[in-house]
Amino acid sequence: MIKVKERKSMLDEVLHGLTGPQKSLPSKFFYDERGSKLFDEITGLEEYYPTRTERAILKQNIDEIGCYLGDEIILIEPGSGSSDKTRILLKGLNNIAGYLPIDISGDYLFSVASELRKAFPEITIQPLQADYTHSIDLPDSLPEGRKVVFFPGSTIGNFKRDTVDRFLNVVADMVGSNGAFLIGADLKKDVDVLLAAYNDSKGVTAEFNKNILRHLNLELGTEFNTDLFDHKAIWNEEESRIEMHLICKEDHEVEVDGKSISFKEGESIHTENSHKYTLDEFSEIVSPWFDVKKVWTDEQGWFSLQYLEPK
Ligand code: AVJ
Repeated sequence: MIKVKERKSMLDEVLHGLTGPQKSLPSKFFYDERGSKLFDEITGLEEYYPTRTERAILKQNIDEIGCYLGDEIILIEPGSGSSDKTRILLKGLNNIAGYLPIDISGDYLFSVASELRKAFPEITIQPLQADYTHSIDLPDSLPEGRKVVFFPGSTIGNFKRDTVDRFLNVVADMVGSNGAFLIGADLKKDVDVLLAAYNDSKGVTAEFNKNILRHLNLELGTEFNTDLFDHKAIWNEEESRIEMHLICKEDHEVEVDGKSISFKEGESIHTENSHKYTLDEFSEIVSPWFDVKKVWTDEQGWFSLQYLEPK
């Protein structure tokens, strides 16, 4: 169970999302324990290309990545989860002095950190429990070194434009003028490939999408019936993003914090955006804070890993 303050903040965000003209929920609420497991399952699906593609890019270019990052680096990872991709860096580079995984889910964070300490005894591992979408206060006692934020998975694609700007500002502040930003960004591609990645044939993504309602039921005591909603993923060309929605199958009401919220047949709850970029668009988006110094991609040009330095 989460703490009272976090429950209150979750409730505020949920009520805010469900009372607007287009109902929506913040996609970070997919990730309770079951949601994280479902996402892990998604990353292994044939149709879901981003994870394996980014891992291959990291492995294939590990030496060059090391050169760009420099000596004595402090790796900071907002939303570190299983730190799976980071292990490729921790294993393949010999210049990492410290690693600071940041995650909202404390139990998982601390158990991953203790595993990492065993596997990499020469690296200072300093986990930090925080919701990085709100703010990040780094501990005062960090090891010496160049601060590098690692943000893989194209998670930045989940953010709306104003949130992206706020996040880039936070990262630029955090790493300082000497630091760097290593970020994964998913690229625009054939729409059929994109749609398949978010409408997998086994229905794991559908379960993942509906899990957001189960998570609310668990944490907030709401009584959403997931059978009354269908998973839907669409490509929004104008906004260059995949959108996930939950489509209500019949009129009904659900009580949230004593307020009755009505859902009409055919109405949607918008649960996620996943923006896809061209290289030019991405460099434009980061340009107020960062210069793109190096881009690594796969052969098909489906995914990019980008090395940025503050302006
Ligand atoms: C973890 C945000 C990168 O947007 O592709 C996977 C989440 N949603 N399938 C993505 C997700 C549906 C994923 N990110």
